[in-house]
Amino acid sequence: MTTIDRDVVIIGAGASGLTAATALHKAGLTVAVLEARDRVGGRLWTDEIEGAMLEIGGQWVSPDQHALKDTLAELGLATYPRYRSGQNVYINGAGVVSRFDGEIFPVPEGTEAQIVGLIEKLDALVAEIDPDSPWEHPLAKELDEVSFSHWLETQTDDQEARDNIGMFIAGAMLTKPAHAFSALQALLMAASAGSFSNLVDSDFILDERVIGGLQQVPLLLAEKLGGDVYLGQPVRSVTWNDAGVTIVADGMTVTARHAIVAVPPPLISRISFVPPLPRRQQQLHQHLSMGFVIKVHAVYETPFWRADDLSGTAFSPYELVHEAYDNTNFADPRGTLVGFVSDEEADAVFALSADERKARILESLSHYYGEQALHPVVYYESDWGSEEWTRGAYAASFDMGGLARYGSELRSPVGPISFSCSDMAGKGYQHVDGAIRVGQDTAAAIIALRVRA
Ligand code: FDA
Repeated sequence: MTTIDRDVVIIGAGASGLTAATALHKAGLTVAVLEARDRVGGRLWTDEIEGAMLEIGGQWVSPDQHALKDTLAELGLATYPRYRSGQNVYINGAGVVSRFDGEIFPVPEGTEAQIVGLIEKLDALVAEIDPDSPWEHPLAKELDEVSFSHWLETQTDDQEARDNIGMFIAGAMLTKPAHAFSALQALLMAASAGSFSNLVDSDFILDERVIGGLQQVPLLLAEKLGGDVYLGQPVRSVTWNDAGVTIVADGMTVTARHAIVAVPPPLISRISFVPPLPRRQQQLHQHLSMGFVIKVHAVYETPFWRADDLSGTAFSPYELVHEAYDNTNFADPRGTLVGFVSDEEADAVFALSADERKARILESLSHYYGEQALHPVVYYESDWGSEEWTRGAYAASFDMGGLARYGSELRSPVGPISFSCSDMAGKGYQHVDGAIRVGQDTAAAIIALRVRA
């Protein structure tokens, strides 16, 4: 088995680990990035499926994601706007299909007033929350003890208003049912995007895509690091003391002064730490779990919905596919729809055969776009729940009470070991922007230590 020695070893070649490695390398430190998979990018993955280029993981960029935007500019990657001309579609609990413009769904006047009121209330609360330290809010403990669904029940009796506001954080973001996470966790999700209004505004949060796919970010970062990135190297153990670490992967051993564990928090406990991590870390990692969503890609000969003056943007908390968008690739004559099936709905369709699942999902898309949606030329389901080195999507969040109890130690280093991941971010939490921000901060902290030493 090969043994190499470096200043810093990074476990995980996702956006976060590669960003940290790049910054350290630029500062003159030697690095090795060990990646379990046979590719880089983690939850960023662009692949060709039956002749269609699909972004199987993360893809959208929003205007406030400056860390990601700066990285795109540095790497020379161009973006293009998501198609949004025409009308959006909403389906209510009775199955009535309506078209609408703007952000507020076509609901009865009273429900609309409740939705607007809830958005204002959430925006006001979010304005008081620092996404980097939500546990410092004076009501943090109280807000972390109540589920988001229960919190919504205390605000309004209007079920449709609750279902819609709940959907934006539950099905659409944390991809867990609204009873499974706290109001504080919901506020962090919104604060990480600047405001709750930003999350509700698909033209903001799903603004642009990268020509050629967002996986180019980790691919280009890895290319610049060259031979310092080692694929097919799942790290099994980290032996550590104050002087440094010895890391054993399947095909190599790395000794280093510092280690960065850049994997999703629920996977950290798959690595044996010798001696074990302190009890606080061992506990806090167990209180974080991945959400679960199926990203469905349906490619058609043409973007047929555009001819019907539809933007492709569609929502319903009552549909199997709770949100869907025009996801046509840049300069592609074919049309692509992307839809999302979250949490308990995803559990239910994974209990079906692949054919039955496809039929149910396409049926749901047809409720928004009509019969033509039933006949894609390419159909693909991103299933991150079955990926050994991710185990869910989009990212990890705390269980009830976990954020106030453990959040402040989420990013605390232990001896020579630091932690870096989108799931540990404040601003950009659960997004590539957050992965990059935490990667930069983690690298800066190690560089600062070296300067002081
Ligand atoms: P990431 O999980 O990407 O990287 C961790 C790496 O560690 C992986 O490569 C893994 O293989 C490796 N690893 C794990 N254990 C290991 C071990 N023991 N040894 C060695 N390596 C190990 N974001 C966004 O900004 N816009 C969007 O539109 C979306 N949409 C979206 C859709 C879907 C379907 C998904 C799954 C995710 C998104 N996201 C997103 C989220 C975004 O993709 C995600 O937050 C970041 O890519 C995470 O980057 P990290 O580097 O933090 O973790």
